[in-house]
This record gives sequence, C-alpha cells and structure tokens, in this order.
Amino acid sequence: MILPIVAYGDPVLKKVGDPITKEYPNLDTLIENMFETMYNANGVGLAAPQIGLSIRLFVIDASPFSEDEDLSEDDKNTLKGFKRVFINAKITKEEGDEWAFNEGCLSIPDVREDVFRQPKLTIEYVDENFEKHVEEYDGLIARVIQHEYDHIDGILFTDKLSAFKKRLIKGKLTNISKGKINVDYRMRFPNQKKKR
Ligand code: NI
Repeated sequence: MILPIVAYGDPVLKKVGDPITKEYPNLDTLIENMFETMYNANGVGLAAPQIGLSIRLFVIDASPFSEDEDLSEDDKNTLKGFKRVFINAKITKEEGDEWAFNEGCLSIPDVREDVFRQPKLTIEYVDENFEKHVEEYDGLIARVIQHEYDHIDGILFTDKLSAFKKRLIKGKLTNISKGKINVDYRMRFPNQKKKR
C-alpha cells in the first residue's frame, strides 16, 4: 500500500524517533509499504517519520544510483544490490574530510542543495529479522545512510545548509508545507487549508 509522504513543516519530521522491538505491530507490512511508497516516489531511501511514524526505522534501495555513468564498475555493483532495512540504527563513527553532494528529499520536493558530510561511517543496526549488523560504508551509500539516519534523529538536509541558503529557500519551504506544489506522488501537507 502506498502511504502519503509527510511534507516539510510537519512536526513529526523534527522529532527524535523511538527505538522499536520485534513486537512492533505489523512490522512486516509496514516495511513492505515503506518500500512500495519509496519506489512509487522514485526515492532511494525512506524513513519512518516521513510516513508519520516517529520510530527508528528506515529503508534504502540504492539500485537506481548504479545507473550513474560516472561510477566505477565496483561502485555500480555495490549499489545495484543494495537493499536494506535499518532498525534502531546507530552511527558509531564518521571519518574523513567532508564532501559536497547535491541532496534531495521526498518530504521536500523540488529542493536540491549541496550538503557537506564526511565520506565514511560505521553503523550498528538490526535488520527486519532483528539480526544485528555492524558495517562500514563509504561513498554514495554512506551518503544515503547519513541522510536517512538524520531523519530518525529529527534532522532534515535543509537544517544543514548555511543561513544564507536557508533564507533563499524559505519561501519554497513555506509553499511546500502549505501544499502549494506540484508533486506526482501522494503527500500530506501540515499547513494546507482544508477544502470546503
Ligand atoms: Ni529525506
């Protein structure tokens, strides 16, 4: 089932998510729905707060990035099969000199900005079967993980922009929160006027 994606301005996007247990109601269906919602919106990652749930869960399928011609064959192969569910994740280490990458977010349609992040990370999490993993990532996958991980901590990529950039996109963000935007997937806007 395709779920509505919560738009910029909804307080749920600003909340720190709670950890969950195996007993979380209908977890399998939730994960399935999150993937379906993400694919429908052509995203490579989706975090639970973006569908209105303040819990520490996000899904990633980086396959679309594997089409990027500028990547090495090795990178392409890593990205191609990269489909994962991250539950109760914790980034325990980030390393290296920050690099810029043009990020976007399904909750903030039509806004793309360069965001600086460190290139390498170590992450601990449990998967959909609550099996524990400790893994290291770099490059594009690390970038996608960092973006989604921020969501479960109540942080958006726009929070990481300079004061100047923030001022430039302020009007756009206000419009998004009011639903004054054309978007080809289902969304829920916090400040939309009710139609009579
Ligand atoms: Ni996002």
